[in-house]
Amino acid sequence: MFPPTPSDKSGVLVRRLIATVAGTTLAAATLAASILVASQEASAIGGVTLRQFAGDRAVGAAIAAHHYNNDASYRNLANTEFNSVTAENEMKWESLEPSENSYNWGPADQIVNNARTNNQRIRGHTLVWHSQYPRWLDSYSGTAVQTRVQEHIQTVMSRWRGQIYEWDVVNEPFEENGSYRNSIFYRAWGGNGYIAQAFRWADAVDPNARLCINDYNIEGINAKSDAMYNLVRQLLQQGVPIDCVGFQAHFIVGQVPSTLEQNLQRFAALGVSIHITELDVRIEGPVDNNELQQQARDFERVFRACWAIPNCTGVTQWGVSDQYSWVDGTFPPYTAPLMISSSYQAKPAYTAVINFLRGTSSGPTGGPTTGGPTTGGPTTGGPTTDAPQGACRVEYTVVNQWPDGFTASINIVNTGSSPINGWTLRFTFPNGQSVSHGWNANWSQSGSTVTAENAPWNGTLPPGVVVNIGFNGLWSGVNNEPTSFTLNNNSCTVV
Ligand code: G3I
Repeated sequence: MFPPTPSDKSGVLVRRLIATVAGTTLAAATLAASILVASQEASAIGGVTLRQFAGDRAVGAAIAAHHYNNDASYRNLANTEFNSVTAENEMKWESLEPSENSYNWGPADQIVNNARTNNQRIRGHTLVWHSQYPRWLDSYSGTAVQTRVQEHIQTVMSRWRGQIYEWDVVNEPFEENGSYRNSIFYRAWGGNGYIAQAFRWADAVDPNARLCINDYNIEGINAKSDAMYNLVRQLLQQGVPIDCVGFQAHFIVGQVPSTLEQNLQRFAALGVSIHITELDVRIEGPVDNNELQQQARDFERVFRACWAIPNCTGVTQWGVSDQYSWVDGTFPPYTAPLMISSSYQAKPAYTAVINFLRGTSSGPTGGPTTGGPTTGGPTTGGPTTDAPQGACRVEYTVVNQWPDGFTASINIVNTGSSPINGWTLRFTFPNGQSVSHGWNANWSQSGSTVTAENAPWNGTLPPGVVVNIGFNGLWSGVNNEPTSFTLNNNSCTVV
């Protein structure tokens, strides 16, 4: 059943907590939305769908109403594979209000209604953006622009209040060198004051929506992401109601930034949630199999980076299939940037991602389990009888490593048949590593022995359900993984 109003209030929770503890990692931000039920419609691709293994995160797609209406294959995959949708163009200001005070709600309303019918969450995109705003706005300046921005935010957010879980309030405010873009909004406010103001207006309209700032080329550590990081930190310190940072992630195959994981971690550590909002990985045509395999690794890496962070709320790809991607028209001869081909077949990227998701989820309840093994270890969706080595399974992954530091993610699964109430995980570092900052558990270390006790919100471990915890640590010389783990003094299977 679709929740009539967003039950995911983590953004608001985060925001309120941030007011008092800005700068602290807030793992509570991951507290998720209701688990959405997969559509009853069968996917055109295969027996299983991405959304079945998404858990409480978003696996989303940008949707175009025109294609949705006219292409049954597109519509089928949009409905069945994804649990979150973003309107590719229909909620932009020029689409909604092409003439001043004359609104065209139809296509956007349709996307919202279709999403609700298909038990999908909806990301709103976008309120304040230097591009695709209506030309009539250019006849105004100064406070006249400010007034119209306020009206725009109030009118648009009010229409779908309670139905949109996450809004891109401000889109693409920065130039590549980290300076502010000289947009109509920047000029109207005489500086970057429009950003804080937009978030305050947005919060006043829909306090339950998670409010994001969104940009491209901020996925790795660079001048632009530094500028975004500093802005978000300042906004939080000023009590501005910002909940989330969107990383568009328009990549070229083989060029996912090496600092992706490190960069996402530093934003998450500010206490905001993060979302990969517009993922695509374009390939210069003609496309060969090696490039498709590299694209698969790139997609999996992005999902893995998000899933390793408790307050990464999900990944949205920018389109449903390669068929209508914006890439072909904008970057010829680049093409084929998504997980599903132009003939609506699963590409290697789709297979890599679904296998990764299967490996980290408890799997669909009662759903099909075909689809092959995971690439990164066995699936965790299996039966819940006791494993011979104990009632737990642990997957420890170093998701990022730099000269003296690293980030590790640990998935814990109760493989027994009844819930575990209250848990303590212990392991021993083999090479003198240490935990410097952890999340989703209470972390301590004595000598080389690390103890992680459940946080208040994840103390109950139902059978088969994955709990993710993680930490940043220090290392030197060698950084081997721990080889044995105990949960409540029972030794766990390590995968
Ligand atoms: O609908 C008209 C059609 O009637 C007309 O015949 C045709 C002729 O060019 O244009 C059609 O409109 C196009 C529209 O997409 C719908 O397809 C616009 O020209 C075209 O400019 C527009 O491009 C969109 C682009 O934003 C504009 O900046 C892309 O679809 C959309 O994918 C893209 O999305 C942006 C995100 O919002 C922000 N981040 C970057 C991302 C990619 O550019």
